[in-house]
Amino acid sequence: MDKFVVHESQLSGTVKVSGSKNAALPVMAATLLTDSECTIHNVPDLMDIRTMIKILEVLGKKIEFKEGILSVKANKSKSFVAPYKLVRTMRASFCCLGPLLAKRKRAKVALPGGCVIGARPVDIHIRGLRDLGADIFIEGGYCQAKASQLQGAHIYLGGQYGSSVLATANILMACVLARGQTMIEYAACEPEIECLASFLKKMGADITGEGSPLIRVSGVKKLTGCEFVNIADRIEAGTFIAASLATRSNISIEGVNPFHLTSVIDISKKIGAEIIIEKGGVISIKPNQKLRPVNITTLCYPGFPTDLQAQFMACLSLANGISLVTEKIYPDRFMHVAELNRMGASIQRNGPYSIIEGVEKLKGAEIMASDLRASAALVIAGLAAEGKTEVLRVYHIDRGYENIEEKLRKLGAKIKREKQ
Ligand code: EPZ
Repeated sequence: MDKFVVHESQLSGTVKVSGSKNAALPVMAATLLTDSECTIHNVPDLMDIRTMIKILEVLGKKIEFKEGILSVKANKSKSFVAPYKLVRTMRASFCCLGPLLAKRKRAKVALPGGCVIGARPVDIHIRGLRDLGADIFIEGGYCQAKASQLQGAHIYLGGQYGSSVLATANILMACVLARGQTMIEYAACEPEIECLASFLKKMGADITGEGSPLIRVSGVKKLTGCEFVNIADRIEAGTFIAASLATRSNISIEGVNPFHLTSVIDISKKIGAEIIIEKGGVISIKPNQKLRPVNITTLCYPGFPTDLQAQFMACLSLANGISLVTEKIYPDRFMHVAELNRMGASIQRNGPYSIIEGVEKLKGAEIMASDLRASAALVIAGLAAEGKTEVLRVYHIDRGYENIEEKLRKLGAKIKREKQ
């Protein structure tokens, strides 16, 4: 196991954002909808992507992955079983259910179970697929589904916490090959869903309304292979914005669509930064020396993303006053609070709320990463803290950030990877 050793740093320069993990994963699952070759560019080399490659191989795909280009071809096997040993390591594998059912008429996908950020049920996925006429039951920890022909339907995908990104992806991938029209109401509006819809359209699907809460799909008989460029990772970009704020460093971020970060840029300006979108979409951030406290509520897109809550909490722990963070997507996603407090932050959690009383300085400590985004928050805190910080269990960060320490080092960060 590796750890990061981090020292207080000033950052400067430009960083290029990698391809989005959360967009690439459903796009990869969508290749199950055709037997022709698909080539996807700008795929980040991450553990979660490698896990999805293994799942697709088990499901009968032949894959080459080199320098960000992923080529997926059909192999002989037409298995419809995504085994628990792979699914349990990455929940996104559950989005193989929709495409398997649509193309192979059967699917047996392990139920992913909860994880450190919360219970994470899959009831919305199942409800939507049942509406399309699938016969679904749970047995032996697997979700088993059958449908000789999915039938278009009017589907409502709202849940207790709003829309669901991967349920929208699953239903979208299932209904593109269904007979007739489907209307998905309360669809997730995240850019990752727009990206998936663009890929499906390139394969020949008939979709309108993606990026809005109402998606309309007219089923087609067959989809073909295509060549596609994945979007850049808005969460990685937001993580660099948080690092710039916490360390009061001027940096520029390139390669990401700034329109995917409107809420994040808005909050960052309130915290105290001049943010300029330059020609070509480069985001340039100049934080103030004194950070202001703000209230952040995480919401579905285009609201402030839950995947940046931890990183921005690290910044707010250094603001000049009291901030309130309300987590509306995953009310238990606060594992980073105790670790930030070990570094001298003053954060009190109460249910889905955290009250952060800004402190002058954080102090380096040995701290434990608990999940992907919490690890990023701890690295940011370490860059802003006095002395030495050791972030243990960084395998979490490797799941979602491509070459994070190299990118940070290029910006001038004092960060080293060592054996734990
Ligand atoms: C996606 O997960 C992302 N993962 C998550 O990214 C992200 O945090 C999340 O969307 C929210 O933006 C990928 O894209 C691979 P949801 P997803 O279904 O789709 C509840 C990261 O750090 N819900 O939109 O699984 C759920 O419990 C991660 O990269 C149900 O109640 O999330 C949550 O409260 C982690 N029933 C809310 O909806 C369901 O059937 C939104 O979850 C499904 C979800």
